[in-house]
Amino acid sequence: MNNWIDRAEKVIRRCEEVACWTDEPGHITRTFLSPSTRDVHACLRQWMEDVGMAVRLDAAGNLRGVRPGSQPSDPVLYLGSHIDTVPHAGAFDGVLGVVLAIALVEALENRRLPFAIEAVAFSEEEGVRFGVPFIGSRALAGTVDAELLARRDALGNTVADAIREFGLDPERLPEAAVGHGGLGYLEFHIEQGPVLESVHLPLGIVESIAGQSRFAIVFEGRANHAGTTPAPLRRDALAGAAEWIGRVEREACMTPDLRATVGSLEVQPGASNVIAGKVLATLDVRHSSDDIRLHAVASLLDAATQIAARRGLAVSWEQRLDQPATPTDPSLLAALERAVTRAGFPAHRLASGAGHDAMVMAKICPSAMLFLRSPGGISHHPDETVLPGDVAAALAVGVAFLEEAEALRA
Ligand code: HGY
Ligand code: MN
Ligand code: MN
Repeated sequence: MNNWIDRAEKVIRRCEEVACWTDEPGHITRTFLSPSTRDVHACLRQWMEDVGMAVRLDAAGNLRGVRPGSQPSDPVLYLGSHIDTVPHAGAFDGVLGVVLAIALVEALENRRLPFAIEAVAFSEEEGVRFGVPFIGSRALAGTVDAELLARRDALGNTVADAIREFGLDPERLPEAAVGHGGLGYLEFHIEQGPVLESVHLPLGIVESIAGQSRFAIVFEGRANHAGTTPAPLRRDALAGAAEWIGRVEREACMTPDLRATVGSLEVQPGASNVIAGKVLATLDVRHSSDDIRLHAVASLLDAATQIAARRGLAVSWEQRLDQPATPTDPSLLAALERAVTRAGFPAHRLASGAGHDAMVMAKICPSAMLFLRSPGGISHHPDETVLPGDVAAALAVGVAFLEEAEALRA
């Protein structure tokens, strides 16, 4: 195992090196094809080439390194994760899966496998810049459409503009698609929650990924003077939004395993002596059952309508994502369980509350995920971290999984 520890510490150092590339000095913040993405690509490209991979950048800004199989006709096993982050992120969400994939290829040395390995650094998974996630993996799945390309960021740039500005050609997006012949997709990722730490385990096998709904919602009232406007004459958009946000929290508290979050709020005009005329909020609802998730969404949108009507506000919303819950491919899950057991670890299954590129890749090939313990159960925060022993365990399982995949091909 000490060999794996050395490799694991190198993986962690590399993730911390990538974390230095940011669009917001003092924080880790990288969004879709932002300037710091170029620096991350340069790092990853070097590390991929150092282990003999042929590297290309596709039209969606996914950096892709290929290790050939034994025959040109061999199928491809995809390994990867995303390199964009949420604002003020930690150093491991996404990047760890890419750096681990490269470390696995390095550990293979000259061993020939009956399949190629493609390590993918997805350009965008979080949905921060354009409000819609999974742009990178949607390019591999071939599901980037005109609607997505026309989405605008806060500065009015479209997704297509961002691609062109990065020096890529949106017309070539079809070349990024991989079709349905992949052997499979495996994503290593931090759990981002408290489960593995609570059961004192380094690794977890994801059996399903919660479905998620994302909305932009706008409450509109009438701005007015904070000092002269008596309560009955107010149409306070922020007071209405606040009442609704309390309702969102209650829905999550009342519904087992439901996660409902209002993560961002913009108040206009945003002055202490002006009653808020307009509030822009986001809603993020998740559950492993699509029925429960969709019922909660309907209930919360109905509550927004009722609160707005009672307060003389207008309310409108735009759905940004309706991502069904995604089970792990059964045969890949079984292979991963065998690999975890062979590597000497308990095969603990768990559900993922976080969304992942594996949900999109599952549309085109069998997909699976292996979680690494999140110390303190924290993520989407600078304190997010991993333990070297857990990274070493993931590497050992990764090699065992490749051997299981080899057996599947035999
Ligand atoms: O939001 C998520 O579930 C993930 O971090 N993109
Ligand atoms: Mn994330
Ligand atoms: Mn992630």
